[in-house]
Amino acid sequence: MKILVTGAAGFLGQRLITSLLAGSGRVGRLTHVVAADLVPCPVADPRIESRVGTIADRHFVDAIVDDEVAVVCHLAAVLSGQSEAEFDLGMRVNIEGTYGLLEACRRLAHPPRVVFSSTTAVFGGPLPKVVPEDMALLPQSSYGAEKAIAEHLVTEYTRRGFIDGVVCRVPTVAVRPGAPNSAVSSFVSGIIREPLAGTESVCPVPLDMRLWITSPDVVIANLEHAVSLPAAALGGRPIVNLPGLSVSSAEMLDSLERLGGAQARARVRCEVDPRIAGIVGTWPEAIDISRSLALGFSQDRDIDAVVQQFIERKA
Ligand SMILES: NC(=O)c1ccc[n+]([C@@H]2O[C@H](COP(=O)([O-])OP(=O)(O)OC[C@H]3O[C@@H](n4cnc5c(N)ncnc54)[C@H](O)[C@@H]3O)[C@@H](O)[C@H]2O)c1
Repeated sequence: MKILVTGAAGFLGQRLITSLLAGSGRVGRLTHVVAADLVPCPVADPRIESRVGTIADRHFVDAIVDDEVAVVCHLAAVLSGQSEAEFDLGMRVNIEGTYGLLEACRRLAHPPRVVFSSTTAVFGGPLPKVVPEDMALLPQSSYGAEKAIAEHLVTEYTRRGFIDGVVCRVPTVAVRPGAPNSAVSSFVSGIIREPLAGTESVCPVPLDMRLWITSPDVVIANLEHAVSLPAAALGGRPIVNLPGLSVSSAEMLDSLERLGGAQARARVRCEVDPRIAGIVGTWPEAIDISRSLALGFSQDRDIDAVVQQFIERKA
């Protein structure tokens, strides 16, 4: 089977490709992965064909989507901070890039399974403590608005039978290794990762603000599950709120102290940044995930399991 992964050089792209090639999930044997990104995909495997270009370029997209592609995992995106700072770029990549990719898929002989990584930032405005499945979308950021539009494109192309789409609304993924990124939610990983590495970190939102998070291992298992999930199981509703955990920054720091010690906790200070708190505060604190659990998606056990996963991976 041949799979196309966009955003292949990114955090989730690299991990998804590695996991798909290891064959640990329920996806069939892969013969070929087309790994598309602005930069070469660093994962080394003879089955990977790294393609460098922008998904905003229709010629590039047409060149990477061919009749052998059975599955597309569309992860390439301009993230929340950059979409807010560079409006035109976010619109071009997150909306027009997705549209061009779907158009290329529409021309294929067989509608491919398209897994689209959306975000809980599509929600916004006054939200109940637990956001229900049928909550109206009122995004409060350019990123959230662009992803909401792209969700509609994926669901419409699915309804028309041009593709076989699954939209996965991904919670904030933590703990992300490496350097901070351009996502407004970057601090969610930073307040665990930096103190464990012996450096100081700032929590820019009030400590009681709740966040909807998932660990890298669980989100990758869930994206793989979306690749192999039978369309009939979705019952014509291709949007899935992936399971997450509702935790406050204070609970994350308590976990940091339990697993990393008091000295690690002492490296984090709270200094509210109104720009970041303003955006993050519009995201759901928790989402009703009864449907996604019934569909077989998985959930992290608790915040300690999330932090422990990062500590073990680092070692
Ligand atoms: N990590 C999270 O917390 C999180 C949460 C919700 C949703 N998501 C979604 O998951 C996906 C992957 O996120 P990630 O954390 O791996 O982000 P990332 O920034 O690490 O990876 C995104 C990749 O997309 C590539 N890219 C950007 N513009 C491109 C373009 N024009 N053409 C081709 N490639 C381009 C980047 O070079 C990067 O390698 C994104 O769609 C993101 O919106 C992530």
